[in-house]
Amino acid sequence: MIHDRTSLRFAIPGKGRLKDPSIDLLRKAGFDFRAKDRHLYATCTNSDIVFIFVRADDIPVLVNEGVVDMGITGSDLVIERKAVLEEILPLGFGRCRLCVAVHDSFKSNELKPLAGKTIATSFPHITAEFFKSNGIDVKCVEMNGSVEIMVALGLADAIVDIVETGDSLRDNNLRILKDIGKYETMLVANKNIADDPRVKSIRRRIEGILVANRYSILEFNIREDNLREAEKIAPGYESPTVSKLDMEGWLAIKVMVEKNKVVDTMDKLESIGATAIIETEVRNCRL
Ligand code: PRP
Repeated sequence: MIHDRTSLRFAIPGKGRLKDPSIDLLRKAGFDFRAKDRHLYATCTNSDIVFIFVRADDIPVLVNEGVVDMGITGSDLVIERKAVLEEILPLGFGRCRLCVAVHDSFKSNELKPLAGKTIATSFPHITAEFFKSNGIDVKCVEMNGSVEIMVALGLADAIVDIVETGDSLRDNNLRILKDIGKYETMLVANKNIADDPRVKSIRRRIEGILVANRYSILEFNIREDNLREAEKIAPGYESPTVSKLDMEGWLAIKVMVEKNKVVDTMDKLESIGATAIIETEVRNCRL
């Protein structure tokens, strides 16, 4: 129950681009819960955790205050909300840039013409500090969403907002003028609970999925005298698993390979005479 303070409280973004990947990651890590539309919290059915669905930008504050023990949010939001918390693990999704964007028709590629102009943003602190550090005086208007439309509405001359794919800017005839910083999605915890065994266990489970996402298993057969050459091409995470094949002079090898190197590795193994090279997916692991 939400009022029960013995259960761990875990905040998940309840909308926006971080919602689906966060829920997907937690489910893959073995946490069962029902995320129904409009429900603000869900009890985990197989761990003593209550998941709370809130705005990603409120999560740093909730974790900082300790009313929620841990959560998933953007490192950009942790900085913007000036939250003091433990950033436990980068989660490998939601990588984004915070950018100053202007209408396609804006004539300059410099920040200077924005002096004295109005900037709409949901990042007022980062924006104010950025323009101040560039010696440009602007007026910031804080908005809590749909920031991209503020130029077309005539509220602002430019915006400062998150860009991930760039689709939102393109849809609104905006273009990037300057990058402010790069950020990513993090697993965060309140400082007082960061060393709690439950937090460490959640971290390990999630880490297992993240590593699994990065690797494939390659299996292949190779002649014994080519083993060293094969090990140079595919050294594995620690070392390859080598077993004898029921065929004189041949070995069966099993090795972990980073996904983005699999095809190249297969080509190289084939070129030294490896046969029956098979890639399989790693769903979960502990390394
Ligand atoms: C962010 C940001 C943009 C969008 C950018 O919104 O405010 O609207 O993502 O992504 P894109 O470059 O892939 O189009 P988010 O979905 O996090 O939710 P919000 O509208 O509540 O800020």
